[in-house]
Amino acid sequence: MRLLILFSVFAVFVTAFPLLDLIPEFRSTFNQLINSNIFQINLQDNKDRLIKLGPNEFKIVSEIEKLNLKRQNKNFIDLTNQISIEKAIEDGLINKPTTSIWDRFFLIGAKQIKTLKNPIPVYNYPTELSYTKEVKSLFELIDIDLVFKKLTKFSSFFTRYYKSQHGFDSANWLYDQLNKLISEFKEISITKIHHDGWDQFSIIVSIPGELKDKVIVGAHQDSANLILPNIMRAPGADDDGSGTVTTLESLRVLLQAYKDKTFKPYNTLEFHYYSAEEGGLLGSVDVFSRYSAQNETVVGMLQQDMTGYTQGSIDKGIEPHFGLISDYTSIELNEFLKLIINNYNNISYLETQCGYACSDHASALENGYPSSFLIESDFKYTNKFIHSNLDTIDRLDFDHIKEHIKLTIAYAYELSLAKKLY
Ligand code: BES
Ligand code: ZN
Repeated sequence: MRLLILFSVFAVFVTAFPLLDLIPEFRSTFNQLINSNIFQINLQDNKDRLIKLGPNEFKIVSEIEKLNLKRQNKNFIDLTNQISIEKAIEDGLINKPTTSIWDRFFLIGAKQIKTLKNPIPVYNYPTELSYTKEVKSLFELIDIDLVFKKLTKFSSFFTRYYKSQHGFDSANWLYDQLNKLISEFKEISITKIHHDGWDQFSIIVSIPGELKDKVIVGAHQDSANLILPNIMRAPGADDDGSGTVTTLESLRVLLQAYKDKTFKPYNTLEFHYYSAEEGGLLGSVDVFSRYSAQNETVVGMLQQDMTGYTQGSIDKGIEPHFGLISDYTSIELNEFLKLIINNYNNISYLETQCGYACSDHASALENGYPSSFLIESDFKYTNKFIHSNLDTIDRLDFDHIKEHIKLTIAYAYELSLAKKLY
């Protein structure tokens, strides 16, 4: 009996769904329902979005379809704010929007076209390290209790969803933390990058070097609960509270050396905190397309997204290690990272893949800048509690976060002092 009911519900659903397409009234009622305040999914922006699902694959989708793609672990970059849909059609990136819900669901209709605008320059990264003594002495300054305190606060915001008031509040808290760190150095700047369409801003801290060429360390500040992002709790302790506090502590330590006059970057060193990564890399795409439009040079960008979970490895009897993402990243910059890890860390790395555009490093690459992504472990052992209310601080390993901090300090120190990169 139960099976029969289940089957009937399924049959009604399957037949009713395409009907939504045939009868416009049905469709609009359905849309009104899911957009209504009861669900609070905030789909008032049910306008079409232009997304990129792979190096040659574009698609027009709605906001709810974006959320569904994320729920299916399909990565994409939302380029709506960079390329208008009219322009994308004109340039032949996509066919005219399809109206069939089936086509949309199965992502049919994307045109195959080569578009990676800019070739990625190859830089001569150091093949030997020059500052091991100085860098290792900085490791003594890492204050892991402080990191724990900061992450406790950052993950206590109800959510850091980029379209929510909480996400705006958490951005302001983060801004205040960074502002306090740099307040005594007048030449170091902090900038809020406001984005079109939502309130949570990205933040850039810039320590000017002799050259304008940039070395960048990044993390994303937003979190999301994929069931109902607007109403459900998303502590995002690992994703990506961990990366945020990893780079925050690295910056704090480097600034101590800066204050003591034992460190002054030669290339400009920047720390980025992106908004709306979970919306399809929206904040970082905005930042890097501005850099590209202003002809900025970025010699290397390193993303730190999920730096704290080791239980997945431990459960399988595998020692904690880094996951060095090898797809859609710079081969040369990855080689440089291997050199850093082998010399500065107590743990090793496994090369692993996470698919197209799984974090903000992809926005740098998309705009012609070499980037790398170092994650907490091989992809298959990473934290399975992310994007839910279970992504909490008690599941994280602070010894592991410390290894990511050491890595970040060493990367920033060595590369920002590297000369003759081209
Ligand atoms: N931190 C995740 C990516 C991730 C998850 C890397 C698990 C490795 C293991 C990131 O915040 C995320 O959720 N990315 C989206 C893609 C984005 C373009 C919407 C994803 O992977 O679904
Ligand atoms: Zn993330």
